[in-house]
Amino acid sequence: MAVDHLIVEQMGSRHLDDVLVIEKQAYSTPWSSNSFKNEIYNPYSIALAAVLDGKVVGYILANYRFHEGHILNVTVHPEHTRKGIGTHLMKLVLEMLRQRRCTVAYLEVRASNQDARRIYKKLGFYEAGRRKAYYIDPFEDAVLMTAEL
Ligand SMILES: CC(C)(COP(=O)(O)OP(=O)(O)OC[C@H]1O[C@@H](n2cnc3c(N)ncnc32)[C@H](O)[C@@H]1OP(=O)(O)O)[C@@H](O)C(=O)NCCC(=O)NCCS
Repeated sequence: MAVDHLIVEQMGSRHLDDVLVIEKQAYSTPWSSNSFKNEIYNPYSIALAAVLDGKVVGYILANYRFHEGHILNVTVHPEHTRKGIGTHLMKLVLEMLRQRRCTVAYLEVRASNQDARRIYKKLGFYEAGRRKAYYIDPFEDAVLMTAEL
């Protein structure tokens, strides 16, 4: 990874101000503060914040049910993309899901989000189907991707 002093912490409410700024920059329909809190306080969720020099530069949220892990949100601050942070967060979460006895992970990604789709493929995800008009603003299909853990 191009960033050697990155710290990854369990996400807590202290990270939320930074997280919400990044979230609003990254998405047309950003998660609300409550959506993040629901995951932070869910015992079956994993929520991590990547921190550089005291500021959040990326985060990932996933939850799991029985043997299935669901990657819900992975986002890196636009000034810190292409440094390996997104890949690092994904690898950490996939390992944590494995430790929680998950055997598969899945995620949805906008069909047009080629960068993210390429990263997920590199991490072992393959395209398993589509969810029609899953996203709004603009309307778009999700590609459903799964990986065996
Ligand atoms: C998708 C996203 C999370 C990826 O995070 P990231 O930290 O930029 O990802 P990485 O740096 O791990 O990898 C991105 C690319 O940069 C490359 N890269 C990694 N380190 C690099 C470096 N030092 N120099 C140049 N390129 C590098 C990776 O190989 C990868 O290249 P590829 O496009 O050829 O596959 C981030 O771009 C983002 O937040 N996007 C907006 C929100 C979003 O779309 N989230 C996903 C929704 S499903």
